[in-house]
Amino acid sequence: MTESSSNTMWGGRFAQGPDAVMEAINASIDFDRRLYAQDIRGSRAHAAMLAAVGIISDSDFHSIEKGLLTVLSEIEQGTFSYSRELEDIHMNVEARLKEVIGAPAGRLHTARSRNDQVATDLRLWVRDQIDLALEGLATLQRALLAQAEAGADWVMPGFTHLQTAQPVTWGHHMLAYVEMFARDAGRLRDARARLNECPLGAAALAGTSFPIDREMTARELGFERPCANSLDAVSDRDFALEFLSAAAICAIHMSRLAEELVIWSSAQFRFVTLSDRFSTGSSIMPQKKNPDAAELLRAKTGRILGAAVALFTVMKGLPLAYSKDMQEDKEQVFDAADTLQLSLAAMAGMVADMSANRAALEEAASAGFSTATDLADWLVRTLGLPFREAHHVTGALVARAEEKGCDLPDLGLEEMQAEHPAITREVFDVLGVHNSVASRTSYGGTAPQQVRAQIARWKETLG
Ligand code: ARG
Repeated sequence: MTESSSNTMWGGRFAQGPDAVMEAINASIDFDRRLYAQDIRGSRAHAAMLAAVGIISDSDFHSIEKGLLTVLSEIEQGTFSYSRELEDIHMNVEARLKEVIGAPAGRLHTARSRNDQVATDLRLWVRDQIDLALEGLATLQRALLAQAEAGADWVMPGFTHLQTAQPVTWGHHMLAYVEMFARDAGRLRDARARLNECPLGAAALAGTSFPIDREMTARELGFERPCANSLDAVSDRDFALEFLSAAAICAIHMSRLAEELVIWSSAQFRFVTLSDRFSTGSSIMPQKKNPDAAELLRAKTGRILGAAVALFTVMKGLPLAYSKDMQEDKEQVFDAADTLQLSLAAMAGMVADMSANRAALEEAASAGFSTATDLADWLVRTLGLPFREAHHVTGALVARAEEKGCDLPDLGLEEMQAEHPAITREVFDVLGVHNSVASRTSYGGTAPQQVRAQIARWKETLG
């Protein structure tokens, strides 16, 4: 090929170089340089395969292999100089390879295109991020599990509509999040299994006339198998969308927990004390200790969900196969992945460090007539009342207590009997919050015995 001043990769067809604005909108090297390790790994696998099937000579392969390792170490040592003119990481690496090893570098791109190259690189990158997120999730789950174990039988108010509903146990509440994060991990594992097919060898879109061995490159890169359709291989980013979707759902779970921590750490609740390590002070109000990490976690959700929405929007309506629109996938995926990993680490740290205030939890547990349902259930169970009637009698007793400004257990037996004459002293047994939670022994219920069984199960699962 004759080199022109336009472009070393496709200069043959071009008389002029790009306008500066064209270069600015077109170049992705400022962000896709993050794919360097995956790009070089993919190139090494591709070159090894080309040599194995006899498309390039062993000696060319060895100089390519050696040259790629040199480029890798230059990048890792920070001595590599990136060029915007060379657009992206793929062409930056290849151009440098040519400087380092000369002519054999020109053979690396045989039976390959940047289209299958970038699809491969990004799959490898997302796969690594999924593995990292799975570790982050397991650490977070262990922190929640430790909290659950410490307070398996501590009582606290359970809320619906953020109004006191029924007493629950602290351990039960912590385990609710362990379940959510387990499903997040499941979604990520599913996404990982589906993305683990190798696009390399799909070339630009149609496959190649060279006798390549796609099984070999797939195996070399840790993929289960090659993608079975070359058009699909280069033109879909559903693996990135699945990752972003799973990340967004996970972020939403973290945001809900973060919101609870913000509420619980307030002076009005005092359910938890966040550690100094995960709080900040105020520059003007000396008494303040703010749950900034929790607040930021709530907000980061918008960023991750935003990335998902952005890439969904990029992909909708794109005809097959590759379009440059897809270059916009990377910044979204990178930012969402970074944000997810940081959020998981911050949440795990905050949960591990926080201390729950057992006395405040217990005090709040009995407020707001939280055992009213227990009273109604008792009327059904012991006196044989239909539930609707029991609901009505209990409602009347709540109204009496409210009028007197006391809790349900503080009503006298005579007052109880004024609403239903058959009520006996035994009713007071079910009005205590400890009895209330202890009675909820149905599978998945809040009784300490159920909570302890779930803790044992999770300890086994999480190790
Ligand atoms: N930088 C490009 C991307 O991220 C690489 C693929 C370019 N392919 C092409 N036909 N222009 O998508």
